[in-house]
Amino acid sequence: DWTMGAFRAEAIARIRAQVGTGRVICGLSGGVDSSVAAVLLHEAIGDQLTCIYVDHGLMRAGESAQVVKTFRDRFNIRLVHRDASELFLGQLSGVTDPEVKRKTIGRLFIEVFEEEQQKLGGADFLAQGTLYPDVIESVSATGGPSVTIKSHHNVGGLPAHMRMQLVEPLRDLFKDEVRVLGRELGMPEEIVGRHPFPGPGLAIRIPGEVTREKADILRRADTIYLEEIRNAGLYDAIWQAFTVLLPVRTVGVMGDGRTYDSACALRAVTSTDGMTADVYPFDIGFLTRVANRIVNEVRGINRVTYDITSKPPGTIEWE
Ligand code: XMP
Repeated sequence: DWTMGAFRAEAIARIRAQVGTGRVICGLSGGVDSSVAAVLLHEAIGDQLTCIYVDHGLMRAGESAQVVKTFRDRFNIRLVHRDASELFLGQLSGVTDPEVKRKTIGRLFIEVFEEEQQKLGGADFLAQGTLYPDVIESVSATGGPSVTIKSHHNVGGLPAHMRMQLVEPLRDLFKDEVRVLGRELGMPEEIVGRHPFPGPGLAIRIPGEVTREKADILRRADTIYLEEIRNAGLYDAIWQAFTVLLPVRTVGVMGDGRTYDSACALRAVTSTDGMTADVYPFDIGFLTRVANRIVNEVRGINRVTYDITSKPPGTIEWE
């Protein structure tokens, strides 16, 4: 795509002009935006860039290993991978309120990020994968609704004493354009085409208290669901698809025994920006196939439901 080729060259020149010989730190989440920002920055300034990946232990199956493999091994980007799952899960113990969960994760994320950037000896710039809709949203937030539906977190909320000059090379782009840029930069499709994933990770897909055991169960169900979606060739037609582990146990029958295990919900929506969303109309054969696999292959789940709520009035995530 010639337009994106031109954007790429201009963006690289702009980054070099802004950064000079300074050191840049970039928070990597594994998501599309920060990933594309990191690869673009690396192309512009090489080892002046260090990425920090704060792993809260609430990622999907295999995701952390994939982030490390892709960025460190394939793109040769300097990457700090901090496994902070003990810390996050410890602080989440006993927490059931969705907003307290989000705020706890947001606060720890900043603490750990700050620790890691101090270990690196600081930096002159902080890079972020801010997109155009994020810019608009934060501008309109001042005059927008006074009710916070969900407090989102990203590295933009860093405390004043560590505020660095921002580098935001994607701030003129929409999500679909970021994906085109990622392909232009030679990034693998499994990153560029990936569904959005919320900062708080699986914590907000486990209503009630989050534990490592529940996260493990959820990851198994989620893997099966996404595998079936990919096999059916539906992944790219869906904005987001995921599993929610419900804080409800129900009675079931397995072989000639009684089970009393958790129920889970499947969610899949279409959307263009995440602001509104429609339920994806799977055929019932697909849904029952997924349900059978999950109940048979995931210990701890014995019932599967499909969430048929659009946004509004529902939200995409359950918390
Ligand atoms: P909701 O659930 O509000 O989600 O309909 C809209 C979109 O935003 C994602 N989401 C988040 N993304 N940090 C993020 O970076 C967050 O805290 C967060 N919460 C929700 C959600 O997955 C959906 O794509």
